[in-house]
Amino acid sequence: MSEPLFEVDESGEDLTRADQAVSAELSPAEKAATREEHLKLAEGALVRADDLVAGYVPGVNILRGCDFYLQDGELVGIIGPNGAGKSTLLKTLFGLIPVRSGAVTLRGENITSAPAHKLVQLGVGYVPQNNNVFPSLTIAENMQMGVYLRPKTFKERFDYVVDLFPLLGERRNGKAGALSGGERQMVAMGRALMMDPSVLLLDEPSAGLSPAYQDEVFIRCRRINATGVSIIMVEQNARRCLQICDRGYVLDQGRNAYTDKGKALMNDPKVVELYLGTLAKAQ
Ligand SMILES: Nc1ncnc2c1ncn2[C@@H]1O[C@H](COP(=O)(O)OP(=O)(O)OP(=O)(O)O)[C@@H](O)[C@H]1O
Ligand SMILES: [Mg+2]
Repeated sequence: MSEPLFEVDESGEDLTRADQAVSAELSPAEKAATREEHLKLAEGALVRADDLVAGYVPGVNILRGCDFYLQDGELVGIIGPNGAGKSTLLKTLFGLIPVRSGAVTLRGENITSAPAHKLVQLGVGYVPQNNNVFPSLTIAENMQMGVYLRPKTFKERFDYVVDLFPLLGERRNGKAGALSGGERQMVAMGRALMMDPSVLLLDEPSAGLSPAYQDEVFIRCRRINATGVSIIMVEQNARRCLQICDRGYVLDQGRNAYTDKGKALMNDPKVVELYLGTLAKAQ
């Protein structure tokens, strides 16, 4: 017991107990991301993931014990470096990646690895980052694909979508393939909304868009959220995402490293230094 504990970090230097004591001083956002706090905070959540381990290639785990929760009505943002596993987390929540251990629940029901059509029926919508429209179909046909399980609701849902994205009504007979990236993003979100989801999973909705369109997307997401849809949003545009979300996660190397209210994360010195530094200087 009295032996000093040594560990070798990647730089080859010894970490003593004193170093470990310093690193053990967790900021509020780091503490909230620990398993212990997650278990308390995630109680009664609409969607929750507990200790998820998942990956693509046998023997390589991309999610390495990831915890996540979304309370009813929340807009939660997920940021983090490239390759952190953000898209993998969304895909895993939507049952697209085999789960090696851990669990995903929706309103307390175990939906781990449930097929996508079942999740859609249960009220989960997913908008992948790429290839998210049928380019050879018109906008209206894309919307019909979104509502294929409940065709009778087409008119009512399309009216709701057009209210959010008027352009989709104006161009309803135009081919989706002729649209710009930002317009396609609207089609993809609109299609997911046709099924009247209670939860929407959005992967990088502002990626590749001009700054004006990016802003538009964030405003629309807040409006969609205000209509009662809970949202999980993965974003590269970390600052803007944290500004508009209720709560955010920083995902790093397949684990949640920090979680707090969006604005609190923007003011957390470690989050700023490690994940927002370049952007912080640019603004
Ligand atoms: N289809 C796949 N097959 C094998 N490995 C994959 C696959 N998709 C992603 N990966 C790997 O999983 C890791 C996490 O990828 P993921 O796409 O989840 O990251 P991300 O956080 O979304 O990154 P980005 O910000 O670049 O979108 C990366 O190392 C990536 O190479
Ligand atoms: Mg990604």
